[in-house]
Amino acid sequence: MSKSSSTKNSVRILPESLINKIAAGEVVERPASVVKELLENAIDAGATEVQVSIKNGGKDLISILDNGCGMNESDAQLAVERHATSKIINEEDLFRIRTLGFRGEALASIAAISHFEILTCNDETQGATRIFIKGGYLEQVGKIGFPKGTKVTVERLFYNTPARLKFLKTTATELQHIQQHLVQKSLAYPHIHFRLTHNRQLLLNLSGGQALETRIQQLYGEEFKEILMPVKHEETYLQFSGLISFPSKPKAWVMLL
Ligand SMILES: Nc1ncnc2c1ncn2[C@@H]1O[C@H](COP(=O)(O)OP(=O)(O)OP(=O)(O)O)[C@@H](O)[C@H]1O
Ligand SMILES: [Mg+2]
Repeated sequence: MSKSSSTKNSVRILPESLINKIAAGEVVERPASVVKELLENAIDAGATEVQVSIKNGGKDLISILDNGCGMNESDAQLAVERHATSKIINEEDLFRIRTLGFRGEALASIAAISHFEILTCNDETQGATRIFIKGGYLEQVGKIGFPKGTKVTVERLFYNTPARLKFLKTTATELQHIQQHLVQKSLAYPHIHFRLTHNRQLLLNLSGGQALETRIQQLYGEEFKEILMPVKHEETYLQFSGLISFPSKPKAWVMLL
């Protein structure tokens, strides 16, 4: 046994707030991780309109508004707890996952390391719920006027995790990661209208209800249409379809749907 291990502290269970901060570090690596998680929640909620607003590469503010199913007050309060999800119920469900999320980790993790606000409504006759959490601590829960859907606003990301804060890159780099996630999701869900603003400047406005080909043209231009080939394959447990560009062209990629 080494000298240092013989003088180590005794084993203990960590306090809940520290557990949450450590877990948050695994889910949220940078502002784009927050965007990814919130986009996935909006998509799982059946949204057809998703608006993403960012300030300073997401370092100051990330806000995602959707017109999905929303939540009632009790679900909203549970949703910001760790291991709380509506997407699976039992172990067997792990073998038939049809949603993007299922861990029940994302909202709690994001709320543990930011100033976090959620406005949500699943029934306009019942009013909407507002929850505000600072660094994992519930500060306010109340009623508010807000239409059906959900808006999550994340400010001061990593304010209480200095190591993560220190390793954030420039605004341009963080924004690039965010855009990348948005473009990926917009390709996989061409029926959804996605908007992205950065420091109030509109960067992307992709109207919804589109075929994949149209979404590709919205993003990459008309000329891309000419170089795409449909691909489709089916196995017992797998089926995929999409479009692939000819290998000789610069942007070689395949979309799985
Ligand atoms: N935009 C939204 N609209 C409606 N319900 C939402 C929205 N975002 C979250 N929820 C609800 O809150 C729950 C918790 O969300 P959270 O992202 O923390 O976990 P998850 O999506 O279930 O799993 P994962 O941690 O893998 O993302 C979800 O299961 C869902 O029921
Ligand atoms: Mg989620």
